Amino acid sequence: MTLLVTGGAGFIGSNFVLDWLAQSDERIVNLDALTYAGNRQNLALLDGDARHVFVHGDITDRKRVDRLLAEHRPRAVLHFAAESHVDRSIHGPGAFIKTNVEGTFTLLEAARAYWSALNGDEKAAFRFQHVSTDEVYGSLAPDAPAFSESHAYEPNSPYSASKAASDHLVRAWFHTYGLPVLTTNCSNNYGPYHFPEKLIPLMIVNALAAKPLPIYGDGLQVRDWLYVGDHCSAIRSVLARGRPGEVYNVGGWNEQPNRDIVRTICTLLDELRPDPAGPYARLITHVKDRPGHDRRYAIDARKIERELGWRPAETFETGIRKTVQWYLDHAGWVAAVQSGAYREWVDTNYNTR
Ligand code: NAD
Ligand code: DAU
Repeated sequence: MTLLVTGGAGFIGSNFVLDWLAQSDERIVNLDALTYAGNRQNLALLDGDARHVFVHGDITDRKRVDRLLAEHRPRAVLHFAAESHVDRSIHGPGAFIKTNVEGTFTLLEAARAYWSALNGDEKAAFRFQHVSTDEVYGSLAPDAPAFSESHAYEPNSPYSASKAASDHLVRAWFHTYGLPVLTTNCSNNYGPYHFPEKLIPLMIVNALAAKPLPIYGDGLQVRDWLYVGDHCSAIRSVLARGRPGEVYNVGGWNEQPNRDIVRTICTLLDELRPDPAGPYARLITHVKDRPGHDRRYAIDARKIERELGWRPAETFETGIRKTVQWYLDHAGWVAAVQSGAYREWVDTNYNTR
C-alpha cells in the first residue's frame, strides 16, 4: 500500500514522513516543489530507502499529479504542501493564492477523478487528508474560549485567508462530490527541521550567532505550541480512524506569550551552551509589529481526544528542550539553510522594521 504525501520536504511533512517510515513499511510517494522551504536534507536519513519515493514537482501541475496517482495507486493523499509563513504572505501574497488555493483545487480534482474510478474496498478506503491551521479562525480575545471546530472562519492574513479558502474547497468536494476528505486544523508547531524564519528556530539560530532576538510589538501575542511529533501522531490517528467529512482541531493545551517563549529559549541556551559574553536574554529587542497581527490563538482539542483518543505526548518543557538540543546538534543543517536567499529574506523582513 502507498500514501501520496505533498510537501514532504518541508518542516512538518518531513517529520511526518520520517515518523511514518520509522513505524510502518507502507511506502510514501513524496511530491514536493522544493521551494525555499523544501529541503532534501530533511530526508537524508531515508537515502537509499526504497519505501520513500521522492518526486520533485508542483501540486498545481495537474498532469503530473494524475500520472502519479495512476502509477502509484495510493490509498490516501496527505496534503501538507503550502506556502506557510505569515510574514512572507504580507510581502508577497501571490504565491499563497497559487499554491494554497489553486494547488489544493488541482489536487482535489485529480483525487476526485482517481477515486471515482476506484471500485469496492479500494474506493471505500480512500482518503484525502488536508493539513490546515488554526489561523483560519482569526484572533481570540484574552478570555474567549479556545477555537472549537464550529468556530466561525475569520482569517486575517493573506496566508490564513488562502488556507481558509483551501479548507472551504475541501469541505465542498465532500458535500458535492462525496470525496472522502478529512481536515485537521492545528496550532503552532515546533521541533526539528523547522526553517529559521519562524519564531522558535529564528530565536535559537540568532542567539547562537549573537544576533538580536526580534520580538514583534509588545511580545504579548499568545500561541498554542505543539511539538511536531505530536502533530504527526494526530494526523496518523485521523487517517486511521477519522470520519470522512469531519474536521479535527489539534493543539498542545499550551498557550504562551511570545515573550515567555523567547525567554525560555534563552534560559535553555544559557544552560546548554553558555555564552561567555553573558545571558542570551541580553539580545532581546522589540521591533515594529506585524501588520494585522493576530493577538491570540488557542485550540480546543477535546473532539480529537474524545473520538480518536489522541492527546499530545510531549509537554512544552520536554519538547522545547529536545528542540534546542536538536539545533545545537545540527549546526551543519543550520548553516546550510542560511543561504543567500535566506539572508535576503532576513534583510527584507527585519532591516526595514
Ligand atoms: P513548510 O513551509 O515548512 O513546508 C512546505 C512544503 O511544501 C515545502 O517542502 C515546499 O517545498 C512545499 N511546497 C510549497 N509549494 C509547493 C507546491 N506548489 N507544490 C509542491 N510542493 C510545494 O510548511 P510546514 O510548516 O511544514 O507546514 C505544512 C502544512 O501544515 C501547511 O499546509 C501549513 O499550512 C500547515 N500547518 C503548519 C503549522 C506550523 O506551525 N508550521 C501549523 C498548522 C498547520
Ligand atoms: O498557528 C499555526 C500557524 O503557526 C501556522 O499555520 C503557520 O504556518 C506557522 O507559520 C505559524 O504562524 P505564526 O505566525 O503564529 O508563526 P511565527 O513563528 O511566524 O510567529 C509566531 C509568533 O511570534 C507570532 O505572534 C509572531 C511572532 N514573531 C515571529 C517572528 C518570526 C516575532 O515576535 N518575531 C519574529 O521574528
